[in-house]
Amino acid sequence: MKNINGFKKLKSEGKNISMVTCYDYWSAQIIDESDIDAVLVGDSAAMVMHGFDTTINATVDMMATHTSAVKRGLKNKFLISDLPFLAHKKGREKLIDSVDAIFKAGAEAIKIEGANGVLDDINYLVSSGIPVMGHIGLTPQSVHKFGGFTLQGESQSDAEKIIDEAKRLEDSGIFALVLEMLPSEISKTITESLTIPTIGIGAGKYTSGQILVLHDMLGLNKNFNPKFLKKYFTGYSSIKSALNNYNEEVKANVFPSEKESYN
Ligand code: KIV
Repeated sequence: MKNINGFKKLKSEGKNISMVTCYDYWSAQIIDESDIDAVLVGDSAAMVMHGFDTTINATVDMMATHTSAVKRGLKNKFLISDLPFLAHKKGREKLIDSVDAIFKAGAEAIKIEGANGVLDDINYLVSSGIPVMGHIGLTPQSVHKFGGFTLQGESQSDAEKIIDEAKRLEDSGIFALVLEMLPSEISKTITESLTIPTIGIGAGKYTSGQILVLHDMLGLNKNFNPKFLKKYFTGYSSIKSALNNYNEEVKANVFPSEKESYN
């Protein structure tokens, strides 16, 4: 999809929306030529690309740098970027400066985690012409509040709270809502009670679409194996064996051969 209207269109046609994260130029070029619908420059960049333990270390500069790299490779897909941790808690001017930097880098919408305490900011951004995607359930920027990257909404009261957050976020003007690490029944209830599409990660099959971290679905992280993740490629072992093949051929003086040499 090329613009935000694609979200509404796919939902109204009953077609599931596919999304992946992306952080760099060469991956963006591949995704651009694939059938994936839309792309998120997630603040998971802090973990996946920079090796931090949480997304808390993402900054506006980091998000803008990755967004502009992705934008250069992504010509035909809608691009959403994350607002990093606490960027909306430093006053309206700083919020606008942060969103401005990420938009100038190439984002076409911004994703903001949570509901309580951000509804006014979301409303303000939407009325300023900035499309906002919401994100509830497990919001990784609040990992220390949850005590880990754990399933949310397991008790009746938590489930009711999350369902209520979803409705209030829709009222504040978001165009789509990420549901992370929720039991399928809760995602189903939320999806059925909203008009905007829901995009799930670890939230079962009853959402309007799915998102996965690119490196996770390509199997590049051998130590990350949560129940919700399906690996569509043997990234880690395939890349390692390519590196080892190259090393062997260099050691055996097989590479470069005549074919790769200039005479
Ligand atoms: O930062 C991220 O990658 C995300 C997705 C997993 C939804 O927020």
